[in-house]
Amino acid sequence: MTKIVRLDPLNPDLNVIKEVADIVRNGGLCAFPTETVYGLGADAFNPKAITKVYEVKGRPKDNPLILHIDSLKMFNELTSDVPEIAYMIASKLWPGPITLILKKSNLVPNEVTANLPTVAIRCPAHPIALKLISSLGRPVAAPSANISGKPSPTKAEHVVRDLMGLVDVIIDGGDTFFGIESTIIDLTVNPPVLLRPGPITPEDITRILGIEVIVPPVARGYEEAKVALSPGVKYRHYSPNTPLILIELDNYEDLVKLANIVLNKALELRIKGYNVAVVASSETLNHYRSKGFPVINLGSRNNLFEVAHNLFKALREVDELGVDIALVEGFNDNVGLGIAIMNRLRKAASERLCY
Ligand code: TXA
Ligand code: MG
Repeated sequence: MTKIVRLDPLNPDLNVIKEVADIVRNGGLCAFPTETVYGLGADAFNPKAITKVYEVKGRPKDNPLILHIDSLKMFNELTSDVPEIAYMIASKLWPGPITLILKKSNLVPNEVTANLPTVAIRCPAHPIALKLISSLGRPVAAPSANISGKPSPTKAEHVVRDLMGLVDVIIDGGDTFFGIESTIIDLTVNPPVLLRPGPITPEDITRILGIEVIVPPVARGYEEAKVALSPGVKYRHYSPNTPLILIELDNYEDLVKLANIVLNKALELRIKGYNVAVVASSETLNHYRSKGFPVINLGSRNNLFEVAHNLFKALREVDELGVDIALVEGFNDNVGLGIAIMNRLRKAASERLCY
């Protein structure tokens, strides 16, 4: 049976957190909010509980988990051969939505890292997540709290839909702040490599830390290289059940052009007998709505935080519309959160059309 508990995200009841921590200490699984997406947490030092996390999510065994920590003490216990840059990032950006890949220590169970010699670590900036870790007194291993391949959960309702009956507790702490998963950078190589773009952008890293990170094609969401850099990039992700066609342009300056391309594609599919929906920015939405297409609003192109925040909810809503095909507008992946948004959209799409 799954217990659902509601907690104030800013001022969570510590007694409730303690009860949840006890469940995790006894090998249970708990979904909890972070500032990025909801996580599915287990005691990082309990291999049985970790194995259960993989089973519950239907997650491929070779896709390792992130360890969530509350302190440098935990950080040092879990890592070895840590380069100076890792401490610099930790001091400037933690707690926060950035995950570091480092050499693991012997304390980290192989179940967590899928037998890799490296480990993913982050200190989340969310009162519930931090207090849960502190109350447990151990790192919390947590992937996103969705069924493998589905969009990550940004509200407790998403977790309930995916994991009700499969986990011990779901903490409802409201909507998550960023709505996309943490930035992941590999610090076992020099210069560091961006494995997954997230709320902290490559420009942020350069501006705050004065270093460049390598941005490989996989970070933009393109097909994998033959040898996957991060095990997680091998799999299709975030996918609605409804076929999703991503419309990409060379540049997005001319929104009339974008809207006309998307509308023409929608009309073409309608003539063939398909029911079509469009996932679009607020700027171009009415272009499709006025022709009778159901639309899902991602928010404004001038506010990519809003688009990122709405993205996974929108991908889940696509299935609720009951259409045959959905079209989704692309975004410029060279500015700010655009790369993080396009990484998710390219992985979610069953087809990409480039103009
Ligand atoms: O924001 C987030 O990161 C959320 C919240 C819950 O913290 N967590 C999350 O976990 O997104 P998950 O499991 O959905 O994604 C973790 C990613 C996967 O792509 C995995 O392959 C990668 O991290 N990863 C984990 N350990 C790794 C390692 N040692 N080397 C390379 N990639 C690793
Ligand atoms: Mg995930």
